[in-house]
Amino acid sequence: VKIAIIGGTGKLGRALGLRWARAGHEIVLGSRDPVRAKAVADALASSGRVSAGDYGSAAASSEVVVLAIPWSAHRETASAISVACVGKVVVDTTVPLNATRTGHALERGSAAELLQRELLPSARVVAGLHTIAAGVLADASLTIESDVLLCGDDEEAKKLALKLAEDLPARAFDVGPLSAAAVLERLPPLLIGLNKRYRRKHIGIRLSEV
Ligand SMILES: NC(=O)c1ccc[n+]([C@@H]2O[C@H](COP(=O)([O-])OP(=O)(O)OC[C@H]3O[C@@H](n4cnc5c(N)ncnc54)[C@H](OP(=O)(O)O)[C@@H]3O)[C@@H](O)[C@H]2O)c1
Repeated sequence: VKIAIIGGTGKLGRALGLRWARAGHEIVLGSRDPVRAKAVADALASSGRVSAGDYGSAAASSEVVVLAIPWSAHRETASAISVACVGKVVVDTTVPLNATRTGHALERGSAAELLQRELLPSARVVAGLHTIAAGVLADASLTIESDVLLCGDDEEAKKLALKLAEDLPARAFDVGPLSAAAVLERLPPLLIGLNKRYRRKHIGIRLSEV
């Protein structure tokens, strides 16, 4: 599958690019800075097919678009890719953290629902990957023990996102409709707190008895 990773030069974006390139997918790293994106694409080239582009062209040339950008850039980035995303599967990984990283920036709802409802209404939005640490994905020698939890209202889009998550390779679960993103996006502050208390870096979530 040809996957555009918007924010592909960041910690999560490049780590996903590495894992999916190794799984045989074709990756386009989308960046605001073509020089930085080219350098990251070159660094990942030994893992598979990885190229670079600006946000709009990366999204336009791909079948699936993954958003790996900060909450502060969510609205602006969505507007840069909106034309390219009509009818496409868009996987939103955004975690809107508050200023102290202890909670969600929104009083209710989620970034993903906002994306689907207001910013990219013609895209098929799936939300997920919030609870998996980029540091684990970035080291291909590490086994991914955390599960990928995904939600969305478009069943076909969700099925494709689940398959891509399994290709990382990780266990992937459908946690329900897009409204479940309100729960998923509120889990990372809890993981940030756990990492601090237990002096760890990559604590994730794994389901049991499944
Ligand atoms: N890190 C993790 O372990 C992890 C895990 C799960 C979910 N997430 C979520 O994934 C998203 C990305 O996290 P990250 O840790 O990869 O962040 P990051 O390392 O800061 O990378 C974010 C990327 O977004 C792009 N970007 C676009 N607008 C930006 C702006 N105004 N300010 C800064 N960067 C901007 C940048 O790429 P260009 O400059 O090249 O365009 C940057 O490389 C966040 O929403 C985060 O909550 C992260």
